[in-house]
Formats: sequence, structure tokens, C-alpha cells
Amino acid sequence: MAGAKNSSLAIIVAAALAEDRSVIENVPHCRDVQTLLEILRTLGVGAEWTGPDRLEVDARRLTGHTAPHDLSRQMRASFYVAGMLLARLGRAEVPLPGGCVIGSRPVDFHIRGFEALGTRVATEHGYFKGQADQLRPATYYVPRSSMGTTINLMLAASRTADVTVLQNAAREPEVVDTAVFLSLMGARVRGAGTSTVTVEGTQALRGVTYTVIPDRIEAGTYLIAAAATRGDVLVEDLISEHVTALLTKLGDAGVTVESGPSGVRVKVDGELRPVDVDTAPYPGFATDLHPQFAAMLAAVPGRSAIRETIFERRFGYVDELRRMGADIRVDGDTAIITGVQRLSGAPVEAVDIRAGAAMVIAGLAAQGETQISNVENLDRGYDRLEEKLTGLGATVRRVRG
Ligand code: EPU
Repeated sequence: MAGAKNSSLAIIVAAALAEDRSVIENVPHCRDVQTLLEILRTLGVGAEWTGPDRLEVDARRLTGHTAPHDLSRQMRASFYVAGMLLARLGRAEVPLPGGCVIGSRPVDFHIRGFEALGTRVATEHGYFKGQADQLRPATYYVPRSSMGTTINLMLAASRTADVTVLQNAAREPEVVDTAVFLSLMGARVRGAGTSTVTVEGTQALRGVTYTVIPDRIEAGTYLIAAAATRGDVLVEDLISEHVTALLTKLGDAGVTVESGPSGVRVKVDGELRPVDVDTAPYPGFATDLHPQFAAMLAAVPGRSAIRETIFERRFGYVDELRRMGADIRVDGDTAIITGVQRLSGAPVEAVDIRAGAAMVIAGLAAQGETQISNVENLDRGYDRLEEKLTGLGATVRRVRG
């Protein structure tokens, strides 16, 4: 498995908190990482690949406080730059990340948190503009579980002496990974992985060498692909506790799941059964595995339901799967899936990262050929997808149009 995209994005920005160099290992080669590196370079941060998955971040000459508009708008994680710049320079001008296809995804929780830490905030011309001569510690209640808010406020608080408390913090493994990285840099971060995180910062942050955790969503995508194709696949180098909710639901669907020291093996011996799933913040069933799981259930005869509780517009994949013969109806926040015997290959679109992964899974399981357009969305989040699928016996080709 590649390193976690969503950890890497946070940790690369965190590295720029120190006037120093850091080496980050196990960074995935995906477009969101490349875009973030381009943004950081415009601020004066050096970022070079010094090994296949090893990145060196040199933040000794960080001077810019304004993130470029076009690059920043391409990805939501660009907003982490705001927390980092406020901590490092006391000043940040960062474009508000635009609405995204999976939901409205505002950054109001981040901004309220920055204000609680003593930032004067203005939003003008699509930019967040924050200024704080000296950030001060605070106790902030994150209004609803939000990974981005939790990470951004940990970054912002990491150079502030005294203790900042984040209540109702997100508990995702990527939050923990970022907290471990910040701790190695010299900040004292406690409670990551629980709903109360405390950060005692220091101006004396230093660069470190760190290895990012494996990508649980990428691993989950391959586990679902194996089940959907009625295959027998061992996924190595994942942390199986990070995908417990998925493994439980795969088991409920009749998939044989074996977790061992070498990884997680899934295989399908008999018929699969329909299941119901609710997405939820970690450790619940990840919203980022919802479309892929729906693609599998679309060819499991019987009625399944997936209730989406995080992103209201996560259902972009539904119309695309219908082109392949799926019978899916969206009722409010729930996709009602009436499984068919087999999907049939068709031209479809990757409307977002995870919807794209769902198209790949459906295409692998379907009869005939599937052509997926807009694969740039897959490239945003998946590292060497074709290579890995080909290694598993799939026939996948990238056709440039
Ligand atoms: N929210 C607000 N206001 C805010 C922040 C969040 O209303 O200021 C809402 C969101 O609209 C959403 C909920 O809170 O309904 C949770 O959002 P969260 O902040 O946790 O999401 P995020 O940090 O923006 C990250 C991942 C997403 C993943 C979600 C949920 C990154 C870069 N992105 O987004 O990953 O779906 O957490 O787990 O870490 C992906 O990788 O394909 C992806 C979309």
C-alpha cells in the first residue's frame, strides 16, 4: 500500500512549521500531493523527491504568506497552509477552498478556531485573510467531528506556548499521524485519537524524519475490489484496525476475511448477501469508501442501503453506475441498491476521487469493457493504480484521448 494521502497532505504542511528540513517517507505519488508541493514552493518552501517515496521539505526560507489562487482552489487540504502560516509568520492569505462535488464543505469551523486562537480574520475576494501577532492558547469545541479542522488547529497551535484544548476532535488515524509528527518536531500533543486533543506548542520546532502510515482508503478500495470480483487477494502493509468497520461489513456480506501479520486477505467462496451501511466519522464506516462499497453491492442480488451522514452530495457515482445497469435510487441521505446479477461495461465518468474508484471496481466486475473518463480525479488520490490492478490480474489501460 502507498502512504496515506490525507496524512501526507497534513504532514507535508506541518513540516513547514519548523525553520528546518524534514524528510518524509512513504509519501504517495498522487496529484493532490504534487499540487500541495507546488503551493508550498510558491511560499519559498523547498520540496524535492529524494527517493521513490521520500520527500525532503526545506522550510528554512519560507517567507510568502499568500497562497496562489488557482492551485489552492484545486484541493481542500490547501487550507492547512493557513494554520501553518499563522503559526509560523502570524499572517496568512489563503483562498477559501471552493464548493466541492461531494458537498458544500465550508471552512467555518477552521476559521472560528483560528479566531479563538486570537486571529483577526477577514474574508475578501475569495481569500481568507488572517493576522495574529501572537496566537494565544484557547479551548475550542469543534462544532462537529471534522478531520480538517482538528488538523488545521493542531498546526496553528503548535508554536504557541501553553495548552490549547480541542474538544470534539476528530479521531481519524490521519489526525493521530499528524499529532505524532508534531510531537517529534517538539510540540507536546496529547490525546490524538480521542475526542480531546491538547497541544502545547513551542517556537523551537525542529525538522524530523518520519514515515507516513499506510493509506486505509486505498487498502479498503482494493479489499472491496477483490470482493466485488469474487477474487482472493492479500492486501499487505495496511494497519488492519484502521479498516475494522469495512472488514465487519464485508464479513456481513458473506466475504471471508482473514487478518494476519502479513496483511488482510479477502476471498469469496459462496454467494454474497446484501447489507446496510451508515457512514460515520472514524472508527465508523468511512465516507471515502461509500461509493466503492456501493459498486460492489450493485451486483449483489437483494436490497442493500447506504446512508451517508458526512457529505450530502456524495451520490455523484449513482448515475454513472446506472449506466452500467445498476438499480440504485437515492432517497434523502440514503442510496437504496437493488442488486442485479451482473453489471455491464459502459462509458462512465470519474466524477470525484472515490466515485472514480467505484467506477474502476464496477468495471472490473462487469461484463465487457468499461471506459472511464476524467481519470484526473483518480490520479488525485491513487498512486500507481493501473500498475497495482494489473499485478492482480486485471486488464487496465490508460488511453489518452
Ligand atoms: N465541515 C463544516 N465546516 C468546516 C469543516 C467541515 O461544515 O469548517 C463539515 C463538512 O462539510 C463535512 C463534515 O464537517 O460534512 C466533516 O468534514 P471534515 O472536515 O472531516 O472533512 P475534510 O477534512 O474536509 C477529509 C478528507 C476527505 C474525507 C473527509 C471525511 C482530506 C484532505 N480530506 O476532508 O477525503 O472524505 O475528511 O473523512 O483529508 C478524499 O480523500 O477523497 C476525501 C474527500
